Amino acid sequence: TTHTQSSPRQQVPHTHTKPSETAGYFIPKDSVIIPNLFGAHHDPAVWTDPYKFRPERFLEEGGASLSMLLPFSAGARLCLGESVAKMELFLFTAYLLRDFQLLVPEDTSLPDLKGKATVVLKATPFRVVARPRPERMAAHFQGSGIV
Ligand code: HEM
Repeated sequence: TTHTQSSPRQQVPHTHTKPSETAGYFIPKDSVIIPNLFGAHHDPAVWTDPYKFRPERFLEEGGASLSMLLPFSAGARLCLGESVAKMELFLFTAYLLRDFQLLVPEDTSLPDLKGKATVVLKATPFRVVARPRPERMAAHFQGSGIV
């Protein structure tokens, strides 16, 4: 989801302390620059079906280039917490999926992926059933007398 949602939808504004040139564009001193990460992650010249939730694009031979994925931005002021956040996201998701099966409740459909544009792009509230994986529950409570 760091691809489809690009958490800070428009990025943190920065300013130039001196004139510079980027990709052939002259940028005067004191210009306010607001990089568009959402745009970068939905550029059809770079991404096939950019608006489609297709996380398998990041698997080997899935066609996506990790160097074009910039949820933590790039350059001198990129996110300081990138490595912590990546580890946290990995561990949190891995433990969650190891212990629970996440299912769409019978009376609802899949969550809306558009989200709500605020300072960060927020997921619209959705319902999900987290069903404990029986084999994991048995491992947790083994010897406790509960199972
Ligand atoms: C999924 C989680 C996260 C995402 C997607 C994210 C993304 C970003 C982005 C896009 C920026 C702006 C970079 C720029 O202005 O060019 C930023 C800045 C920053 N982030 Fe994160 N971040 C995440 C988690 C964290 C965590 C866990 C920490 C701290 C432990 C953190 C600390 C910072 C700091 C200190 C800055 C300001 C860096 C600067 O201005 O030099 N972030 N982050």
